[in-house]
Amino acid sequence: MRKNIVAGNWKMNTTLQDAQALVSEIVNMVQDEATGSAVEVVICPPFPLLPVVGRLLPEGGQLHLGAQNCHQKESGAFTGEVSARLLASIGTEYVILGHSERRQYFREDDELLSQKLKAALAAGLKPIFCVGESLETREADDTFAYIGKQLKEGLFHLSNEEFAQVVVAYEPIWAIGTGKTATSQQAQEVHAFIREQIARAYDAKQALNTTILYGGSANAQNARELFSQPDVDGGLIGGASLKSRDFVEIIKSF
Ligand code: PGA
Repeated sequence: MRKNIVAGNWKMNTTLQDAQALVSEIVNMVQDEATGSAVEVVICPPFPLLPVVGRLLPEGGQLHLGAQNCHQKESGAFTGEVSARLLASIGTEYVILGHSERRQYFREDDELLSQKLKAALAAGLKPIFCVGESLETREADDTFAYIGKQLKEGLFHLSNEEFAQVVVAYEPIWAIGTGKTATSQQAQEVHAFIREQIARAYDAKQALNTTILYGGSANAQNARELFSQPDVDGGLIGGASLKSRDFVEIIKSF
């Protein structure tokens, strides 16, 4: 079902103490400022902090727990990796897959991501699947073809039922952590394209029901404008999710 979602991707930031302070501030602000049920909030801390952060989130409330990655296999001899099943067993609901940093620094391709998606879904996690073009691709006017391919190869092998669990995030690589944001028109254009591709691969109902988030230097100043676009259903927030005041302002931007 299509929802408004604001997800905070903490990436490889925070210590135990930072995380406790940050999440407590967010929980208090969200409660005090009655940010409402119109938006679901997902906090994605580094793996070891998931249980700690999870315990601080009020049960059955607006705030949910997400991971930043998972392994494609159910279990086994994969030193240093974390399975989707383990994540689910500690109360994780969402998992970010295919973030451009994973694609770039860890060589994750659509083939591997397809397997990770399957593993996440089998464990009952809801994937937040990221797509997005580099500056070079945008300047070559290849954005739509590139994203179309990522969707087709990474995502559209899922069944209708599986796809219904997926949140898509459009993250133009040139806007991630750079302070450059896509204009609301640029974001809307790509979001509308993604929705159209979903309608083609599945059907119009599935397309209407899919949550599509924008990520890439979204902040307290530009969130309202971005979220006002008809096909932008929220944000995947990096840098600004590490500052409680900014993050809560983004949550309140609907
Ligand atoms: P940013 O990161 O908000 O710091 O640009 C977004 C993301 O990578 O999810």
